[in-house]
Amino acid sequence: MAEQYRTPPDLAAHLVHRADLEGDIQDRTVVDLGCGTGMLALAATLRGPETVVGVDIDPGPLSTARANERKVGSTTSVSWVRADATRVPLRPSVAGTTVVMNPPFGAQSGNEHADRAFLATAAEIASVSYSLHNAGSGEFVESFAADNGGEVTHAFAAEFEVPYQFEFHDDASRSIDAELYRIEWR
Ligand SMILES: C[S@@+](CC[C@H](N)C(=O)[O-])C[C@H]1O[C@@H](n2cnc3c(N)ncnc32)[C@H](O)[C@@H]1O
Repeated sequence: MAEQYRTPPDLAAHLVHRADLEGDIQDRTVVDLGCGTGMLALAATLRGPETVVGVDIDPGPLSTARANERKVGSTTSVSWVRADATRVPLRPSVAGTTVVMNPPFGAQSGNEHADRAFLATAAEIASVSYSLHNAGSGEFVESFAADNGGEVTHAFAAEFEVPYQFEFHDDASRSIDAELYRIEWR
């Protein structure tokens, strides 16, 4: 299981609302890298994208994403792809593609900046991305973007509760300080 916690609905709604205000959802291909149960992908279906693609390596959450899609009942076309998001799993038209993602942070698994490979895929397939990272990632995200033809245009602080699921969690839930970045890729 690869850091399988979902983005809280209010934060997912906030991320997609911000993206919509920037003109980054309507009539675009929206790709959710590490889509899990589809929280971000399905929020995007409600904002008039041309198409939505959810990519996850884990088949369990993907089947929940399919069930959630039926519950949401959007008419937007959605594809669920089982693939490794760090190996550039698709080649959409870059200019028309927005990536949204809450990638594994890797902070607790000793795999610091597991999100780096997800950002590399975003740089490859999209002209803009919205990504959640753990607090204090500013320098890393800014320099990764600069080194890969990108520019951070917006940064927001966010906080969310993660229920107890992992052995490294001591309490029933814990609050994670996170950061949301909008990056334009050239
Ligand atoms: C923190 S969860 C976020 C889930 C979902 N995006 C959300 O916002 O609720 C990270 C997700 O990334 C997936 N994941 C981890 N490594 C992956 C990889 N190499 N390729 C694709 N998905 C991966 C996990 O299975 C998990 O669903």
